[in-house]
Amino acid sequence: MALTDRRTFLLGTAAAGLAAAQEQEIRTAYIGAGVRGSELLRLSLAERNVKVAAVCDIDADTRDRALSAAAAHSPQSFTEWRRVVDLKEVDAVFIATPCDLHAEMAAACLGAGKYVYCEKPLGITPEQVALVLRAARGSNAFLQVGQQLRYYRAVREAIRQVHEGVAGKTYIIKAHRHGGRSRSREAETTPQEKTRTTWYADVKHSGDLIVENAVHNIDACNWIAASKPVSAFGHGKKYFPEPIPPGTVMMDGFSVQYIYENDMHCDYSQISFHPRHLKTLPSGMWYTVFGETGTVYMTHTSAHFYDLYGEAEPRDLLAGKGDLEGEDAVAQFVADIRAGRQPFADIRVGAIAALTAIMGREAIYKGRSVDWKELGVEI
Ligand SMILES: NC(=O)c1ccc[n+]([C@@H]2O[C@H](COP(=O)([O-])OP(=O)(O)OC[C@H]3O[C@@H](n4cnc5c(N)ncnc54)[C@H](O)[C@@H]3O)[C@@H](O)[C@H]2O)c1
Repeated sequence: MALTDRRTFLLGTAAAGLAAAQEQEIRTAYIGAGVRGSELLRLSLAERNVKVAAVCDIDADTRDRALSAAAAHSPQSFTEWRRVVDLKEVDAVFIATPCDLHAEMAAACLGAGKYVYCEKPLGITPEQVALVLRAARGSNAFLQVGQQLRYYRAVREAIRQVHEGVAGKTYIIKAHRHGGRSRSREAETTPQEKTRTTWYADVKHSGDLIVENAVHNIDACNWIAASKPVSAFGHGKKYFPEPIPPGTVMMDGFSVQYIYENDMHCDYSQISFHPRHLKTLPSGMWYTVFGETGTVYMTHTSAHFYDLYGEAEPRDLLAGKGDLEGEDAVAQFVADIRAGRQPFADIRVGAIAALTAIMGREAIYKGRSVDWKELGVEI
């Protein structure tokens, strides 16, 4: 074969190999098919050549709903999650059970060579996080953590610009997640929400608000800081309908301060009783990054730069950057399996986020500053 023919042949073979990899069927299983698990299942069903091979949930109604949603794939049905781990015909497992169960399930799946999409938080104690880290070290497969903020195109673009120095050297992050209350919603709880409330409100199962929920936002702060925190100090409790000290029932308000290895610091606040009409301090989720030339103010869909001396108009950092709508965490999970590359929200991201949140929680519970070293986990 002439050299050019041979080159064309090789390129053709490589292209065919790539196409085959893109088309490779990924056989998936779902452990926990409640609010989040059913959404992950829906997102997977939208992917080409992703097969739903098994559904596992201890709740019969929830399981039946998921089995119906994937009926075209004839998935097997399970109530015992360990049987899913043993399935040879499964490549990847989605875990969306209550938070205290993630680590054991994820570690077992990794140990069996399955790719894992594990909902956040990776674990609710340092020991749980360490367990999954150990399992990942001995596995050929990878874990992607369900911190899908990492896959929001707008957030990625804004943080890319922060890292490239749009505000110069950055010093301080102020971040917040405030939500309001609604009397009608509190009165009307669906049966599915009631099941969820049982584990969610109990800090032994959820890890408390900072670990179950704020882990998304705290991870975004870690990402912005491009560093790992060394200590935390904070305060919080359940304030409504009457104050309960932290450590038993999920907090409804807290604030925590982190100092990073690179000397940045972060003030994070989360409150679930922000009056709807209080707009001078906006509710929702936002991050303000203060740097030497100005400040970036960003949400998950917008980002603006404010010049330090007010000599220029605020600048929209996302303008002209193309389509930055939405997120594609599940699509990327599938693509990364096919391409044999590590996910962006990999186990290290998940472990650092969970430990950051756990450190903040322990500082709140103990009423003192807590150091990273006290957590006792090697990253
Ligand atoms: N990434 C996100 O945006 C996001 C959003 C919501 C929830 N979550 C996370 O997803 C997880 C699930 O939350 P949810 O809101 O779906 O809760 P949920 O209560 O609706 O669903 C949990 C499901 O797990 C099942 N389950 C419990 N123990 C099980 C076991 N041993 N084996 C198999 N199934 C079991 C329950 O029956 C239930 O159906 C939590 O970790 C939560 O933090 C993530």
